[in-house]
Amino acid sequence: MPWDPSGLPDAHGRTVVITGANAGVGYFTAEQLAGAGARVILACRDQERAEAAIAAVRRRVRGANVTAMPLDVTSRPSIDAAADSLLELGRVDALVLNAGMVHPPRKRATDEYGNELVLSTNVLGHFRLVARSLPVLEATPGARVVWLGSLASRLGRLHPDDLQLERSYTAWRAYSRSKIAAQVAGFELDRRLRAARSGAASIVVHPGYSTSGRTPGIRGVNQPSRAKRFADNLQAAWTQGKDHGAWAPVRAVLDPDVSGGDHLGPAEWTKGRPVHAPVTRASRSPRQGRLLWPLLEEAADQPFVVGGAGAASDA
Ligand SMILES: NC(=O)c1ccc[n+]([C@@H]2O[C@H](COP(=O)([O-])OP(=O)(O)OC[C@H]3O[C@@H](n4cnc5c(N)ncnc54)[C@H](OP(=O)(O)O)[C@@H]3O)[C@@H](O)[C@H]2O)c1
Repeated sequence: MPWDPSGLPDAHGRTVVITGANAGVGYFTAEQLAGAGARVILACRDQERAEAAIAAVRRRVRGANVTAMPLDVTSRPSIDAAADSLLELGRVDALVLNAGMVHPPRKRATDEYGNELVLSTNVLGHFRLVARSLPVLEATPGARVVWLGSLASRLGRLHPDDLQLERSYTAWRAYSRSKIAAQVAGFELDRRLRAARSGAASIVVHPGYSTSGRTPGIRGVNQPSRAKRFADNLQAAWTQGKDHGAWAPVRAVLDPDVSGGDHLGPAEWTKGRPVHAPVTRASRSPRQGRLLWPLLEEAADQPFVVGGAGAASDA
C-alpha cells in the first residue's frame, strides 16, 4: 500500500520534538503529527512565535497535545538546556532536525564561536543536540532522528578542507554545503547506530521545493503578501506548499516500514507524495562520513560517540 499522507497511523503515546517548528515545514510537521495524536514539542528560538504556532495547532487540531521548549540552534547554552530537557522527558520517539537558515546572507557571517553561520544553524547545533540527547533516544524503543536534507545537495560538493567556506563563500554554496553535510551526517549516524547495535535510527528526508506562497495562510505562522502568493503561484507546476513539504518528515516519523538509512522525498522530485527517493552517492559515502564526523565534533565542540568508545562506522 502506498503511504497516504492524509490517512496517518495513530500516534497516541509518542513524543516528537521538532526544531524550528513555529513556521514552514516544521510547523506543518508538528500540526500533522499532532493530528495523528502524537505529543508534539516545538523547539523554537522565539517564544512569541512558538506561542502563535501552538495557538494555531490548537485551533486546527482538536485536542492537540502540543507544547514548546526554547531552542536556538546557534547557542550552545540553549542547545545544552534543550538536550537536558529532552533527557528529563524520559521518552523521545522522534527528533526532527528541521530548523534551518534557508536564505543565507550574501556575506559570510559567523556565530559567536567563529563557525560559519549557515553551517552552525543547519548542522552544528543539531549535531550537538543529538549527541547530547542520544541517551533518551536510545532508551525509547524505535526512536528516530530525522534530518532535513535538500535537492540543493545535488548541486554542490563538500570540501572537508574548507568546510567553513573561509576561502570560497557564496550564499548558495553555504546552503548547499550545509545540506550535503546534514545528509552525510544523517547517513553516518545511521551507520554508527547500526555498528553499535543501537535501537535508534537515523533517517534523511527532503521536502522538495516548498514555498510559503503555495501554503495555506495561518495567522501568526504563514502570512505571505499578495505579491508573494502571485509570484509563487507562477511556479505552481514544480512547487508545493510547506504543508505538503511536511509529508516526508511526517512519514519518516510514523511509517513502520521506514528504516534507519532510508531517504524520503516527494514522488515528483520537487513535489508530491513522500516516497523512498534517490540521493547522491556522496551523501551516502562512508568515507565522506568518516571524514566529516570529527570535523563536526570539533566545530560543535561536542564529542559524539555512539555506543561507547569501541563503536565505529562500517568501511
Ligand atoms: N522549503 C523548501 O523548499 C526546502 C527545501 C529543501 C530543504 N528545506 C529544509 O527544510 C527546513 C525547513 O525549511 P522551511 O522552508 O520550512 O524554512 P522556514 O519557513 O524559513 O522555517 C525555518 C524555521 O527554522 C527556524 N530557525 C532558523 N534559525 C534558527 C535558530 N538559530 N534556532 C532555532 N530555530 C531556527 C525558524 O525560526 P524563526 O521563525 O525564529 O526564524 C523557522 O521556524 C530547513 O532545514 C530547510 O533547509 C526546505
